Amino acid sequence: MFSDINRCKLDPRLILPEIPLPKAFVYPALRSTRDNFKCPSCDQALILQAESQPQTYRCNNQHSFDLAREGYLNLLLAQNKRSRNPGDSDEMIRSRQRFLNAGYYQSLSDAIVTAVAKAHSGTEQTVLDLGCGEGYYMQQLRIASGQGARGQEADEQNPSATNTTKLKLLGMDISKLAVRLAAKRNMDARLAVDSVYNIPLFENRIDTAISVFSPISVEETARVLKPGGKLIMVGPGAQHLSGLTALIYEQSLPHGGNTAGLEQAAQFTLLETIEVKQTIVVTGSDILDLLKMTPYYWHSRPEQQEMLAKLDKLETLIHFNLNVYQNQSN
Ligand SMILES: C[S@@+](CC[C@H](N)C(=O)[O-])C[C@H]1O[C@@H](n2cnc3c(N)ncnc32)[C@H](O)[C@@H]1O
Ligand SMILES: [Zn+2]
Repeated sequence: MFSDINRCKLDPRLILPEIPLPKAFVYPALRSTRDNFKCPSCDQALILQAESQPQTYRCNNQHSFDLAREGYLNLLLAQNKRSRNPGDSDEMIRSRQRFLNAGYYQSLSDAIVTAVAKAHSGTEQTVLDLGCGEGYYMQQLRIASGQGARGQEADEQNPSATNTTKLKLLGMDISKLAVRLAAKRNMDARLAVDSVYNIPLFENRIDTAISVFSPISVEETARVLKPGGKLIMVGPGAQHLSGLTALIYEQSLPHGGNTAGLEQAAQFTLLETIEVKQTIVVTGSDILDLLKMTPYYWHSRPEQQEMLAKLDKLETLIHFNLNVYQNQSN
């Protein structure tokens, strides 16, 4: 019997050392980093696997997510999708990208850049864009930061930038097309497809969150913001796009806004409201893009769409409110 070997009176030099019982194979524990995206299945940190091809992020429980060719992670689990293609429609997203790229909302973009810069003092600022869409405002923040797409200090696009705060950009949207287009902007941002009602980040990570015409979850936003962190909610002012809506509705309709729930939320205190109002002249096919990027498209009749498509120019007010809140949670 094996167990008797050590007891028999053999020459001790012939006795084999005790061999440990083989253990079930365990994967080496992955380095945990709480600045990373977390796994939507088990909430563990997702870690980039060395030399994996395609680049793969994996958690300790072996759930893995391939980095898309454009450089984003799709963390939206099939069971959390309410439809096959959640979020804004592809047509809406492409129209919005063309319209925003044409610079019509530059005044809003400037106000967001200024508000984000004011929101935080320090050498580094981590900014999360909730419902980032196709990434226009993130790119504007990157350009204003003076750090190029690869994080270099001097950026040819903005050589005069004097901002010394290093900007770390994170963005998420539930629309895969939107995130793919945002990734193509090549703006050194970490991007994920997921819902703002289930943010794939650990708590207390974000200095400043922005939400431009997008939904938010008060609880989730407060959880990922650092104590004292800021939330900048951008929504429509009362006269937003009045020149367009006058051609669609018989009576002007009040805007719903996207700050419902924040006024009463114990987690947030309103610090200030910044108003941006300007008259713009939209020309040519940009008019139809403007219509298509808004919910007004669904409310307009085919003959109204045809009439707008034939217009050479449309003069309208644009009117935004930027509400800056402070996170009171700790
Ligand atoms: C009006 S668009 C604004 C996009 C972008 N912030 C901008 O201003 O260009 C609203 C965005 O919210 C996204 N969205 C809707 N529900 C969402 C959710 N539950 N989680 C994340 N994004 C969502 C849509 O896909 C869309 O891109
Ligand atoms: Zn996992």
